[in-house]
Amino acid sequence: MFATTLSHQNSVSTPSTNLPTDLPTDLFGAIEALKQELNAVILAHYYQDPDIQDIADYLGDSLGLSQQAAQTDADVIVFAGVHFMAETAKILNPDKLVLLPDLDAGCSLADSCPPDQFAAFKAQHPDHLVISYINCTAEIKAMSDIICTSSNAVKIVNQLPVDQPIIFAPDRNLGRYVMEQTGREMVLWQGSCMVHETFSEKKMIQLQVQHPEAVVIAHPECEPALLRHADYIGSTTALLNYARQSDRAAFIVATEAGILHQMQKAAPDKVFIPAPPINQCACNECPYMRLNTLEKLYLAMRDRSPEITLPEATRLAALKPIQRMLAMS
Ligand code: 13P
Ligand code: SF4
Repeated sequence: MFATTLSHQNSVSTPSTNLPTDLPTDLFGAIEALKQELNAVILAHYYQDPDIQDIADYLGDSLGLSQQAAQTDADVIVFAGVHFMAETAKILNPDKLVLLPDLDAGCSLADSCPPDQFAAFKAQHPDHLVISYINCTAEIKAMSDIICTSSNAVKIVNQLPVDQPIIFAPDRNLGRYVMEQTGREMVLWQGSCMVHETFSEKKMIQLQVQHPEAVVIAHPECEPALLRHADYIGSTTALLNYARQSDRAAFIVATEAGILHQMQKAAPDKVFIPAPPINQCACNECPYMRLNTLEKLYLAMRDRSPEITLPEATRLAALKPIQRMLAMS
């Protein structure tokens, strides 16, 4: 979905620490000007701060963002998301400058699959095809046969011969969900996302009692105990489309809270309730995604840095399974 460009003359968010003091007052205007100057496109994920979502040229889930990265004719890709997403854009566009506002914007799920340990795991299953969720490093992609996202994982597994043994990495929750949906056995790498594992089943049941009219919609990275209560399961884009098209008026949303900004914009008359985390914390906000700020996005464009780079041999090896995914989606 393409975001509308909004005017935010007076809504610049609080500057983060260690940032220069000479930032323009109208950051939105300054970013728009840099976009023209650099022939840049801003790709953003729904888990970004609302300000970043509002200035993005394209806002989407991991599949949509990869498809946009594969077809853009911009010279510069400013990736407002996490490292593995920007890295995927670079793998697809070796000659473009790919900027990530904060290089520390990593991912707990990608971190849960270290390449050396995965290589040993893969060697124990030599007959298996490796399907890796896009939330992994370029090194893991380079060891994979096909990449998938939460929106095409079931479709991709269903296209493989029934007798083909499969390793699914790194997310055990998405892997288990795909096994249920396809009826296929797969060997699962035991990785997970710290944000999607934070939701409390007990509190979810209490919330459902308080809001019996609400539909529960959840991302497949959630644990099975949570997914059991979901009326609809899908990628971030699928959840947004479901909320927009449904004739129901209230939704309990079990995924990172950033998506609520788009849901509220798409359906202002509906009620969106974030699924409750285990503690009284903001742990339903991804700490990695939230490292990017509008100020850092501006600075990245102004300074043409930090830039995503990776060794050419890794890039070429990681490109093949991504291309297979794009062809099978
Ligand atoms: P999707 O946007 O593809 O559903 O993935 C969510 C996610 O975990 C991003 O980190
Ligand atoms: Fe990674 Fe989870 Fe954050 Fe997505 S929400 S970037 S999977 S840590």
